Amino acid sequence: MTYNAELFDRAAAQYDESPPFFRILGARLVDFANLPVASSVLDIGAGKGAVTLPALAAVGPSGTVTALEVAGQMVEFLETYSLPNLSVIHQDITKSTLPDASVDHAVSGFTLHILSDLRGALIQIHRILRGYGTLSWSKPGAHPEAIEWEESYGNIFGEFSKRLKDVPSEMTDEPDYESTFRAEGFEIIEQFTVPLRIPVGGPEEYWAWTQTHGARWLTDQLNTSDADEFKSAVIESLWSSHPTHGNDIMVAPLFTKMRRI
Ligand SMILES: C[S@@+](CC[C@H](N)C(=O)[O-])C[C@H]1O[C@@H](n2cnc3c(N)ncnc32)[C@H](O)[C@@H]1O
Repeated sequence: MTYNAELFDRAAAQYDESPPFFRILGARLVDFANLPVASSVLDIGAGKGAVTLPALAAVGPSGTVTALEVAGQMVEFLETYSLPNLSVIHQDITKSTLPDASVDHAVSGFTLHILSDLRGALIQIHRILRGYGTLSWSKPGAHPEAIEWEESYGNIFGEFSKRLKDVPSEMTDEPDYESTFRAEGFEIIEQFTVPLRIPVGGPEEYWAWTQTHGARWLTDQLNTSDADEFKSAVIESLWSSHPTHGNDIMVAPLFTKMRRI
């Protein structure tokens, strides 16, 4: 099992329950993707369906959405939707067996940036998409009004990561996206930053939210006393350097639309 599958199996029960962060951004990503009615769409790293459900609404009853997901617990959740034009498949995108040229467009919310083998994924997506099909995807980004706090959080994260023997490469290495995509046959056609504030009610709740998704990987790996110290350092940084002292999640994710060439 891959590191991401284990991580998201552990996260699944609490993932995107409160606040509905990924659902808010999934709906925005689908607006940005501008998926044609009646088209076939692949959602890569579908999670609990934050992008899948608005994509289904966008393509309508004569379109289809395939939700591809590597974590079994997420797949179980997706299967509860049981909708006629939704297919759920339990696969790692880098080893996908979906047929060549079988979907019109692809979407992916907050997944491509955590893959250990982005090139392997892009080879598959290029193979599965038809013609000039698009791939619209999102990744995290710092809110312009919360840069100071992001830096402080990044420093704390870096300091505690050093206490681990092994750090998974997908959690640290940031590729040059534009050249990686181009090398695998994609060109950028549009990019859009989405500054957003979502109320959470203070540093403790902010911290709790960070433990419901992929950012929990560090806490999962630290020993109990280091994990407690890490939590205290993050809460202290929210009090001291976050613009709303941890009362709002402040982010500015980057949305990118690529076209297969
Ligand atoms: C941050 S979550 C995003 C989920 C969903 N797209 C959303 O916006 O809420 C990343 C998802 O990608 C899945 N994932 C990670 N690596 C994957 C891979 N190689 N193939 C398929 N899914 C993967 C994880 O299990 C997780 O559900």
